[in-house]
Amino acid sequence: MNARGPLSGSGYVQGGGASLEIRPPSCGLVKVVGGSASLPLARALATELHSDFVDVAQERHPGGFPDGERYVRLLGPVAGDHAVLVQTTWPDLMIVELFLLADAIRDAGARRLTVVVPYFGYGRQDKRFLEGEAVSAKTLAKHIALDADEMLTMAIHNPDILHMFPIPAREVSGMPALGRYIKGSDADLVLAPDGNAIRFAREAAKVSGRPYDHLEKERIDSYTVKIAPKKLDVRGKSVAIVDDVISTGGTTATAAKELRAQGARRVSALCVHGLFVGKAAENLTACDEVVATDTVNSAYTKVSVAPEFAAAIRALG
Ligand code: R5P
Repeated sequence: MNARGPLSGSGYVQGGGASLEIRPPSCGLVKVVGGSASLPLARALATELHSDFVDVAQERHPGGFPDGERYVRLLGPVAGDHAVLVQTTWPDLMIVELFLLADAIRDAGARRLTVVVPYFGYGRQDKRFLEGEAVSAKTLAKHIALDADEMLTMAIHNPDILHMFPIPAREVSGMPALGRYIKGSDADLVLAPDGNAIRFAREAAKVSGRPYDHLEKERIDSYTVKIAPKKLDVRGKSVAIVDDVISTGGTTATAAKELRAQGARRVSALCVHGLFVGKAAENLTACDEVVATDTVNSAYTKVSVAPEFAAAIRALG
């Protein structure tokens, strides 16, 4: 088992202080619960697993609490069942909702709780850069583990975070989903916008049956990146840029402009996590098409990673 890079399909990276605990096969039902950050993915996952979906009430009174605090109530039973809770930890309120739901599921008597965090927010603060800082990724890991038996996530900022979990924690690859999309498109080439994304491009290229190449990026600050000069064979071609995350869209836009300058006919940008913050919409006008998965819901969500998480859940045993 690879402890560093995500594996495709049902493959995963495992972290957690513990070695993989082999559990007996589920004897109760699998029930999927979706937090409000991840409802479409949770529903798709329930369909993939042929399992029940447990609805959640988000308000006790119409309009919710006047102070904006979250409220959750499970609308179906989970006692004795293997519950799968799906909730992205971004933006911040979704973290509170995750903890409320996990606690409610435990109190309702679930036999086992698998927490699926499609996009693990706070992954960038994975160490103490300055004295006195919180290691936010560890804080989240610790609190998720209070109720969860295991955690699955996707395209985490740093796979070492998985080792911060005191429970088995695994990374499932989202690249097969992007690869399937590319396979059905007119893309001639898959391109990684920087060195970090080469492993993603390689995997998406393998699934789609297209060749891949990469650029080298230098990050100047959170908003500015520079691409090192490199001659690519893209004249007249359709190119699919693949990355784990599009945040401000700066990386994607810089790569797209370089591709245009070298004569690319069409540029599409695909990512697992589409955050699209700041000037992302403006930056992404450099692309003909933008595609994101349902780990984070946005106007660009066109691909579901439910098959990838379903395979990983089936592999839990
Ligand atoms: C960085 O290494 C990541 O893989 C992404 O390229 C980066 O987070 C994208 O950020 P932005 O969209 O703000 O350039």
